[in-house]
Amino acid sequence: MEYKLITADHFERVIEHLRRNFFADEPLNRAAGLCQHGGGNAELEHHSLTTLQDQLSIMAVDGRKDSNNYGEIAGVILNGVLRPGDTEQALEKLQESSDANYKKIFELLYGHSLQVDLFERYNVEQIFDVRILSVDARYRGQGIAKELVRRAEQVARNSGFQLLKADATGIFSQKILCSQGFQPFSEQLYAKYTNDAGEIILPVEAPHIKLQLLTKQLNKDTQ
Ligand code: ACO
Repeated sequence: MEYKLITADHFERVIEHLRRNFFADEPLNRAAGLCQHGGGNAELEHHSLTTLQDQLSIMAVDGRKDSNNYGEIAGVILNGVLRPGDTEQALEKLQESSDANYKKIFELLYGHSLQVDLFERYNVEQIFDVRILSVDARYRGQGIAKELVRRAEQVARNSGFQLLKADATGIFSQKILCSQGFQPFSEQLYAKYTNDAGEIILPVEAPHIKLQLLTKQLNKDTQ
């Protein structure tokens, strides 16, 4: 497996990978019924492309090449820069969205993030935000996600970040991030995320039970 920074010439193939894997498989997307396998989602694609433009994302590529001399994208980790005020602005913009399912997911994510000011808490001006971790179903269980997280941390270090953050939506991503030294900062049980009538807003399937915001601080001295 080769691990490479994702450059603009690969954006389209990365989006195609996400359509076939992350968009339908990620626990919140599944709960909201956001899209079918292989199907697109305009809002999520825009979110992914905006993140890719920060040039901090990595892909795992199968060394075996196809007839076009491309290796299959086995997995990706999409990371972006988070600055003070970004989440507030994103939540405000979300209100204009006409995609009710996308809105449900991101209201939870942004609302949860806004419960604490990580910039103040850790005294940082920018955060390395791990937004999307996705491995092709045919390549799962081989340690690719773990390696993507490990390499993302190297990119963060090399780019001078002092704090990494991730919103992990499922039990496996939570386990993977913890194995790489991330620590749970705050949690939201899906069963307790309800509307005014007491109904669960996102009926996430077991074994996933909670959203977890995790952080990892990088020591300045070891950079
Ligand atoms: N069942 C049991 N254990 C699992 C599973 C599973 N389905 N998936 C991962 N694990 C465990 C592995 O056993 C391994 O544990 P170990 O080190 O103790 O042996 C550990 O998690 C690491 O597994 P990897 O092989 O590195 O994970 P993989 O490459 O299979 O990718 C991922 C895991 C990214 C969660 C993949 O299943 C996927 O793409 N799922 C759909 C999208 C998704 O949910 N992404 C995460 C959302 S949160 C976010 O994006 C920030």
